[in-house]
Amino acid sequence: MNLQLEISLRVRRAIAAAFPSAADAAPLVVQAQNAQFGDYQSNAAMGLGKRLGQKPREVAQKIIDQLDLGDLLAKPEIAGPGFINLRLRPEFLAQALAAVATDDRLGVPLAADPRTVVVDFGGPNTCKPMHVGHLRSPIIGDAICRLLRFLGHKVVGDNHLGDWGTQFGLLIAGFRRFGPEVPESADPLERLVAIYKLATALADQDESFRAEARAELAKLQAGDPANLAQWRQFSAWSLSHFNEMYARLGVHFDETLGESSYNSMLAGVVEDLKSRGLARPSEGAICVFWDDEKLPPLLIQKSDGAFLYATTDLATLKYRCDRWHPSEIVIVTDARQQLHFNQIFDAARRWGIAEDVVLRHVFFGTILGPDGRPLKTRSGDLVALKDVLDEAENRALAVVRDKSPDLSSEEMAAIARVVGIGAIKYADLSQNHQSDFVFNWDKMLALQGNTAPYLQYAYARIRSILRKGNEPGLAASAAPLLLTEPAEAALALKLLRLPEAIDAATDDFRLNLLSNYLFELSAVFTTFYESCPVLKSDPAVRAVRLRLCDLTARVLKQGLDLLGIDVVERM
Ligand code: ARG
Repeated sequence: MNLQLEISLRVRRAIAAAFPSAADAAPLVVQAQNAQFGDYQSNAAMGLGKRLGQKPREVAQKIIDQLDLGDLLAKPEIAGPGFINLRLRPEFLAQALAAVATDDRLGVPLAADPRTVVVDFGGPNTCKPMHVGHLRSPIIGDAICRLLRFLGHKVVGDNHLGDWGTQFGLLIAGFRRFGPEVPESADPLERLVAIYKLATALADQDESFRAEARAELAKLQAGDPANLAQWRQFSAWSLSHFNEMYARLGVHFDETLGESSYNSMLAGVVEDLKSRGLARPSEGAICVFWDDEKLPPLLIQKSDGAFLYATTDLATLKYRCDRWHPSEIVIVTDARQQLHFNQIFDAARRWGIAEDVVLRHVFFGTILGPDGRPLKTRSGDLVALKDVLDEAENRALAVVRDKSPDLSSEEMAAIARVVGIGAIKYADLSQNHQSDFVFNWDKMLALQGNTAPYLQYAYARIRSILRKGNEPGLAASAAPLLLTEPAEAALALKLLRLPEAIDAATDDFRLNLLSNYLFELSAVFTTFYESCPVLKSDPAVRAVRLRLCDLTARVLKQGLDLLGIDVVERM
């Protein structure tokens, strides 16, 4: 169970019983900062005292008098101006820990009200290899999907490819013109990029070639079979590259419904918005207008009849609502699309297609090099994603070779993959995703500090203790874990807080709250391990401590898995 939530409920009920006129007051239960004063504290009495004109310490006492301690809480204490310090009873800790230790879900409850959530992430544009700018959306989106799924929600992860647009006229015309002279290569997508560059250059100076490209685009949009086949070929090349990258990242999608999937809906969307008076012509184009004149109108059809990104997004929302009836749609993109999604969500609500659907835009900052500038190659392009992943694995390999020179080279390579990719993901997920992500290889691969390698190493180290302990069936024992040392109790409490960390990370998709928890858990574990010998203790103590080790390893593994990060048995 989520202890903070359970205690909040009890304090809430106590407040309602003690002060019926203030039953709505928030219980304000937080984790205590200092174990000396307890495990949790309620800060409710100060505000209530003010509101009711009573002394906060007396208010605190009245709350305590009504508080159902059950077998959960020891006798509370009042501190300072009226803080209520709450401590879990040691017997409860021992029982709860034993229950968690035998639970596959490690004490994390399934959501009481499972929801259907569509998560739109990834979404690269086709016909180009992925670059470093395509890294954050799959990392963040996949972690969101994993968290929601673990809590029992139905999740539809959808990759909204940019696979439709005006560039296809130039691509098709260019392919015909330059295809014969650009040699086939192992990588058809690279060849396509080379051809596209030649075509763009030619279009810059040659009006008749531009006209040719426009004609091909019109044919494609009208459903010409040859052009459609060509377009499909381009998409297939792109997808095979994307899938390779997603596989290396360990990211999975349930659907890949690109912009092209909504093509046939667009005219209808514009008609419908017009007929409802939400959209109207403006200088030959069609726009959605807002009552607030200051807000920029949303362009949904150009004067030449072409539809836009926004039109597709409105169609997409409608499609998702009709098909999955979700209670929530989450779209993960970079921060530059904030205005776009504010407008889309607003228009969708007025259109009435997403009533009772929570629409959320989760946005992230830019990836920057250590010098604070975008990560670009010498030629000025953003660094290819493949190169970023290669470099991560190569650098991780150097770390592994240094740490464990006795491993075989296959083992080293396998570990380096897990550590390298994990390091990137964790560096992203361990900070506020709205901030820019400063890419610092040394920092993210460090074995010390708040990094994936540190946590993966902590996991591997515990697994090695467990191998040496050689006590099978640890996870099956339901005997209460009797704890005697403060460091054991501190570790136990931390382990019981996994549900709190998961709920906190899921509420606003602040994934760094989960990574922080895992980092703190490792630190608490280290303190425990330094002050409480495990393998050399007496059998009864040894057994309890081995179970604490086992549970710590499982919580670390589960927590990292929710962030999309793997662990290894040896490092
Ligand atoms: N293709 C877009 C881009 O490259 C991302 C798509 C995000 N999803 C959406 N429904 N618009 O920025």
